Amino acid sequence: MAYIIGRMLSADRILERCESLAQHSELPGGLTRVFLSPQARAASDKVLGWMREAGMQAKLDAIGNAVGRYEGERPGLPCLMLGSHLDTVRDAGKYDGMLGVLTAIECVSFLNANNNRLPFAIEVIGFGDEEGVRFGTTLLGSRAVAGTFDQKALSATDATGKTMAQALIEFGLDPQAIPKIARKKSDVLAYAELHIEQGPVLESEGLAVGVVTAINGFSRLRVTLRGVAGHAGTVPMNLRRDALAGTAECVVVVERIAKENPELVGTVGRIEAKPGAINVIPGEVMFTVDVRAPNDPLREQAVATMRSQIARICKARGLQHEIENLQDFGVTACAPRLIAQMERAVESEGMRVRRLPSGAGHDGMALGAITEICMLFVRCKGGISHNPLESITEADAAAGARVLERFIERFK
Ligand code: GLV
Ligand code: MN
Ligand code: MN
Repeated sequence: MAYIIGRMLSADRILERCESLAQHSELPGGLTRVFLSPQARAASDKVLGWMREAGMQAKLDAIGNAVGRYEGERPGLPCLMLGSHLDTVRDAGKYDGMLGVLTAIECVSFLNANNNRLPFAIEVIGFGDEEGVRFGTTLLGSRAVAGTFDQKALSATDATGKTMAQALIEFGLDPQAIPKIARKKSDVLAYAELHIEQGPVLESEGLAVGVVTAINGFSRLRVTLRGVAGHAGTVPMNLRRDALAGTAECVVVVERIAKENPELVGTVGRIEAKPGAINVIPGEVMFTVDVRAPNDPLREQAVATMRSQIARICKARGLQHEIENLQDFGVTACAPRLIAQMERAVESEGMRVRRLPSGAGHDGMALGAITEICMLFVRCKGGISHNPLESITEADAAAGARVLERFIERFK
């Protein structure tokens, strides 16, 4: 059953477009679309086309964000910015990021179809990178818009050794132009993002949507352990300096420290062991650590303890180690006045208001540097995300779209 909400606001179309974007993947039979890839180009071209159909002027900016603008009562007014990201994790779901971009376009299409011009402009941005899968650091698209993109990131390399600067040039973009896309504070009234919850709270309470209070902070580390590669048959166990066995101990320590406080989470999500052969003792291992918490001192203390424990393990095993701090981001609070406006939008649709924090990171964290932010969460099945099983219902997509539309129309 298709949920048509008023004239031209269609959850059916939002979900069809999520399916359509999911076709642009480097993973056969699944969805992986990383920053500045040919698949990202194809997806953003589609999004730009949908933005134009919705009555927006649309273009790709210097870092590969798809940016659409719907003028207000007169051209050039400051904007309410809406958006989310178009890149994905590896073997991703179809809604993380995309749902927010496509719902925002749907809302603009609805305004345009009703000839509704507001006392402010609306910009919808499909950010090119939020997940940080390709170059290790996240929120590249939204930080460029917020003016906090670090030009040093241009020399970060992907798994093939290609720098971000090279990847931008191959994509047809000019890395030197990135600072020019930074917005002035006076040009942006607020940033609002609709996103799937990616957790189980709304489902457990039977609610279609929730209003976000704050986004948890995160730290990302890249750790390298170096031992000695050797023959798996000849080197006795007590004479080995096995970097992968050391890594195994570190992984367990990360888990143990994170478990010490229910507000903390810690994950080792990637391990690369070299040389990677069945009969060779691993001489070098790189692994990543992702730590999150709703309170910055708690996260910082946990990271410090992880660092010292990794050092202790390496010393005991005769391994050298290096810990690179890829990124730290503090907790980003949503603005009370925007939370209140979003809550009124939820109530106006006859739904109970539920406030909740976000454990996942979002583009709003970056936009928080230049403007006030708020977020609306939409229930997802089983709380599952970063997984191809990610799914939402058409009724919930419709509820999210209706609330976002109400929020936009009444935004002050
Ligand atoms: C993005 O999804 C993140 O929270 O890592
Ligand atoms: Mn994600
Ligand atoms: Mn996301």
